[in-house]
Amino acid sequence: MWASAVLLVLLGSFGANALDNGLARTPPMGWLAWERFRCNVNCTADPKNCVSEKLFMEMADRLVEDGYKDAGYEYVNIDDCWMAKQRDANNKLYADPERFPSGIKGLADYIHSKGLKLGIYTAYGNFTCQGYPASGMHLELDAQTFAEWGVDMLKMDGCKQMDRHTMKKGYPQMTKYLNATGRPILFSCSWPDYERGAGIPINYTLVAENCNIWRNYVDIQDSWQSVLSIIDYYAKEQDTLVPVAGPGNFNDPDMLIIGDFSLSVEQAKAQMAMWAILAAPLLMSNDLRTITPEYRDILLNKDVIAISQDNAGIMGKRVLQHHANGIEAWTRPLSNGVFSIVFFSRSVKEPEFVTVVMKALAVSSDTSYEVTDVYAQKSMGVFKPTDSITVYVNPNGVVMLKATPQKVWKVENNMIVLN
Ligand code: GLA
Repeated sequence: MWASAVLLVLLGSFGANALDNGLARTPPMGWLAWERFRCNVNCTADPKNCVSEKLFMEMADRLVEDGYKDAGYEYVNIDDCWMAKQRDANNKLYADPERFPSGIKGLADYIHSKGLKLGIYTAYGNFTCQGYPASGMHLELDAQTFAEWGVDMLKMDGCKQMDRHTMKKGYPQMTKYLNATGRPILFSCSWPDYERGAGIPINYTLVAENCNIWRNYVDIQDSWQSVLSIIDYYAKEQDTLVPVAGPGNFNDPDMLIIGDFSLSVEQAKAQMAMWAILAAPLLMSNDLRTITPEYRDILLNKDVIAISQDNAGIMGKRVLQHHANGIEAWTRPLSNGVFSIVFFSRSVKEPEFVTVVMKALAVSSDTSYEVTDVYAQKSMGVFKPTDSITVYVNPNGVVMLKATPQKVWKVENNMIVLN
């Protein structure tokens, strides 16, 4: 069973379905302005937090100096509200000159000089969600402009495009124009989310052919409730979402809000673990200049990041749900027969012991596993499929485990098989 699952993944990664720009072989990591800084354009009243080149330069500095870049966070992404209120005389988009005096090209040069990558934002339709000029009539010109500036990632939104049926034509056009520039630009699409909202069936094969990552659900806000509602949606839709994810293509449950105003440390660990299990992009939206060490450590946790970035690129799913105590088990298959397991608690009561038979966690039934607790960095021992494993889960928290098979796996005829 395992061998065939792995074979499918290998085929998937070379198959005709994936967007063929060589990017996002693992979920992209970086920083994205929106959730934390929104459309704050008042640099007179709030120079430190307004959407300006200074903000992105300061975040780039923090990414490099505080260890995020070394941990894998490489994209610095601009969201809405960067543009001047109209296009220039040649119909080109340009950045608000007061807030971005170096222009996007100058900002891209700065970001690249730090060894990082720059992401930018536009929308399908004539206006962005906040009413700035967008790419509707100018997809080709804008793709060329972004490439000239040295942009490495593009998020294309779409809330002002009222006819959402046109998105399955418009987004692939943009993919074509981006590919034609010859510059590798990671493409983040909001198209499935708008189709979902409009009740239009989503063709994920088409989405994956045209986008590296895509949003499928409502915007994250600075609240645990918002995190829970996203996890609910992913659980409900997992049979549709899991097969479409793989190297080059990932579902995007939206930004990490770790280090903002709402999540407790337990909840922050939970978001980080769940986003890793879901093979989600790790795009932080927080203030790296003021984040406290306990939240920074969660974002920099090497073992959780390694699970997120596992190169098989398989998305995990919920396998058990305990209604009485609100605890769920989610698993994600990793390379070489390894599994990651998250016990995720919705409880608002006391910490609880949870006991589960190993084989109920959908791990292979013919091998023992050495199990480690990822956050505690402790081995829990070796477990046979019929053994029970007990964890102690805090309310609104997680226990994340990594289970390594005791049998050796090898590659034979392009398949990973048990030795
Ligand atoms: C939409 C998107 C958000 C953000 C805003 C910007 O709501 O889903 O992620 O980009 O627009 O206006």
